[in-house]
Amino acid sequence: DKGGWSSFMAKEITEQPEAVANTFRGRVVDGRVEIPELSALGEERLREVDRIVIIACGTASYAGQIGAYAIERWARVPVEVQLSHEFRYRDPVLSPSTMVISVSQSGETMDTLMAVKYAKDRGVTTVSVCNTQSATIPRESDAAVYTHAGPEVAVASTKAFTAQITALYLIGLHLGRVRGTLSPEEEAQAASAFEQLPQAVAEAVETHEQIAQLAHWMADTRSVLFLGRHVGYPTALEGALKLKEIAYIHAEGFAAGELKHGPIALIDHGQPVFVLVPSPRRSPVMHSKVVSNIQEIRARGARVIAIVEKGDTAVLPYADDVIRMPLTDPLFEPLVQVVPLQWFALELSTAKGLDVDQPRNLAKSVTVE
Ligand code: BG6
Repeated sequence: DKGGWSSFMAKEITEQPEAVANTFRGRVVDGRVEIPELSALGEERLREVDRIVIIACGTASYAGQIGAYAIERWARVPVEVQLSHEFRYRDPVLSPSTMVISVSQSGETMDTLMAVKYAKDRGVTTVSVCNTQSATIPRESDAAVYTHAGPEVAVASTKAFTAQITALYLIGLHLGRVRGTLSPEEEAQAASAFEQLPQAVAEAVETHEQIAQLAHWMADTRSVLFLGRHVGYPTALEGALKLKEIAYIHAEGFAAGELKHGPIALIDHGQPVFVLVPSPRRSPVMHSKVVSNIQEIRARGARVIAIVEKGDTAVLPYADDVIRMPLTDPLFEPLVQVVPLQWFALELSTAKGLDVDQPRNLAKSVTVE
């Protein structure tokens, strides 16, 4: 049942406020973050972890990249993110104090399952972030942290992605508290960011009409670039992946700081570039750097579509389109900024007359290696 929407993807985009709320419900209580499934592993085991490797494929790997910033910030453990199919064949350095966190909506992705088994066989603690109750990957893991986003039908992942980020943030906070690296102020700040999150995501969902108009005018676009910094970087990668998956358009995401080291050569007259702009209030240094990037690409003819915090006027003189986002904690920006990117892919796919939910050559769950 598409609930009155023209596609499951549209329905699932609009379900995100509820999906993220369901993921943190019962896990943030009175300003304290507690994941019982992690507690069951024992505090000692969590304190001994000296390295975390996140393994995933596709959209889940971008959720992993975003989660890595938060886990490092709060738990002060080095985190790296590897594609599941690369992890296994690189002879990874693993020890009993390594924790492997797999991220998979379906819990059945063969590449990820094989990587989890590989890690488990080497005595590593395995934690699964999964959306599908009792799927194979969570059953094979030492602990399962379910996202509770509800069934996701569209091949292109939306609500599972934002729920995965939410779950990884909760893991970061839980580890930080147990390990004593999280200050009470940080925990309170994160708890309040979670409280405001469903409303903020709901506001981001409201950009639909504006994005639909933008996509309508861009139906002939052959290439789109996405720029972001810090957590905005994997968000940019996800925006590009969505466009490839369902609109069959060449798209690439870049770290904004990397622009001058190569990608700026791609900028030509009329090249559409989405730029994820950090908050000017909370991240003033990164904000000013991204604004400089916008000036650089604008001067070379780019068509700039800026995703900004509402009230940010610094970008206005250089942007062709401005999409306004609600105020959030900087680490939580991906959870709102990705929503207009999801709408954009959906609307461009629709404008091209494509099947939004069932893109060619793709399957919802890939059970072969
Ligand atoms: C891909 C899907 O094949 O698998 C993507 O098309 C998805 O949308 C990826 O992100 C990983 O799937 P899962 O179920 O492991 O999260």
